[in-house]
Amino acid sequence: MNKNIKIKRLILGPVATNCYVFCDTARKKAAVIDPADKPELIYRTAEDEGCDIELVILTHGHYDHIGGLKGLKSMTGAPVYCHINGVDVLGDPRKNCCEDIGGRIETFAADETVEDGDEIAFGDQKFKVIYTPGHTIDSMCLALDGMVFCGDTVFCGSVGRTDLPTGDMATELNSIKKKLLVLSDETPLYPGHGEATTVGYERKHNFYLR
Ligand SMILES: [Fe+2]
Repeated sequence: MNKNIKIKRLILGPVATNCYVFCDTARKKAAVIDPADKPELIYRTAEDEGCDIELVILTHGHYDHIGGLKGLKSMTGAPVYCHINGVDVLGDPRKNCCEDIGGRIETFAADETVEDGDEIAFGDQKFKVIYTPGHTIDSMCLALDGMVFCGDTVFCGSVGRTDLPTGDMATELNSIKKKLLVLSDETPLYPGHGEATTVGYERKHNFYLR
């Protein structure tokens, strides 16, 4: 990994969602993946590394990944990226599950939509979009510098639940096998919940992927 890159993980919100603050300390800019809650803390985490938040990316629109989105947007003005199918998910409290928690989270439309294979520029680096539907119809992973932020598609030893609106297990397993397990064993995976893992570890140990 580029020595100027620091990845800070914050565990936020009611179901311990991972928010990643991806800091380029040379350029003094940060990208936030899944602003789950506590926008002030996310902002301060970037600031502690001397970085301004330049962009925000959502791996999908579920309520527990967007709880800090509105606050962070108003603090930074940074553009928000989601998969094109996320427009529908973000706009529908049933699909993003905000309805299930009594509508306590105000949803927020993304500024930019992306699709499989698109690249989101972050300085001279690029987050490559890997569309991985299954957990939700808008689930995507983001690859940069040999690592992958994989949202709720795959976890260390498990996979994302598919019993919520737009979820489908066969689609999810197909996404993981066709889009993630084709990567090299050493590829780090940074999931939306729990500890980081690698493609090789999941290939070998993940019960769902046998
Ligand atoms: Fe989710």
